[in-house]
Amino acid sequence: MSQVSNPSATAVTEARSTTAPLIEVKSASRAFKLGNEDVYAVKNVSMNIHRQSFVTLVGRSGSGKTTLLNMLAGLDHPTEGQILFEGKDMATLSEKEVIQMRRKRIGVVFQSFALLPLLSAYENVELPLRIAGLSARERSQRTEEALEMVGLTRRAKHRPFELSGGEQQRISIARAVGIKPDIILADEPTGELDSSNAGHIFGLFQEMSHDRGMTIVATTHDRTLLDMADHIYEISDGVLAPRAAGGHEHDALFKKPTGH
Ligand SMILES: Nc1ncnc2c1ncn2[C@@H]1O[C@H](COP(=O)(O)OP(=O)(O)OP(=O)(O)O)[C@@H](O)[C@H]1O
Ligand SMILES: [Mg+2]
Repeated sequence: MSQVSNPSATAVTEARSTTAPLIEVKSASRAFKLGNEDVYAVKNVSMNIHRQSFVTLVGRSGSGKTTLLNMLAGLDHPTEGQILFEGKDMATLSEKEVIQMRRKRIGVVFQSFALLPLLSAYENVELPLRIAGLSARERSQRTEEALEMVGLTRRAKHRPFELSGGEQQRISIARAVGIKPDIILADEPTGELDSSNAGHIFGLFQEMSHDRGMTIVATTHDRTLLDMADHIYEISDGVLAPRAAGGHEHDALFKKPTGH
């Protein structure tokens, strides 16, 4: 397994890692047929995702980030190996069960925000709660909570075009948070943001996992954001490997914390 811990967060994460992982990726590969050949987008990946941790997957374009994230979301399945969600192989879930998972247990955030332009920020956040069949009271409570969490209560009535890119992404995070999912999967959530807004989004993820106990997996190709995560996985040509870091820094990442 290839897992690198951020030293500042290691003590907390180790304490949590005694419990069973939320998601176990077991020797998972995803091959696509190209003519007669199998092209592997993800190759023999194994990783555990523990509750209340913030995990980043870093890799260049075409390295397999989206393919892996889609499999974690149950939108796609490995051609070899397994992905277990609370011990259950996601490939064995019925279509109905997958839809239920997406409605209630797995929140997804996209690079392009995917907000509905004619709805206000509030309505965008509330929509999945309507789809999930929540009462009006529960919907308004959760929507207000989620907007507050991303610091956009005062922008509730704005429509997406009246918000900055960073604000739109925070609304799309609030939308994913509203359903109170077990895990939030974010595919390049900072891809369209400047470095300052990108830092804010990763800071928000850090706070969400550390202060609110959420589990978050975010992909990025921006290495400046990595230190904010509890666990950093580097993916290259579909293969998961420890984050490449020069010399001593690399060793330091593997050191166990002392004095705890
Ligand atoms: N449906 C598909 N059919 C064939 N090949 C695919 C398919 N989806 C992805 N691939 C290939 O798998 C590899 C990984 O793609 P993936 O989208 O996971 O990369 P990525 O890391 O998300 O890239 P980016 O940073 O550009 O979003 C690429 O070489 C891609 O061409
Ligand atoms: Mg991608």
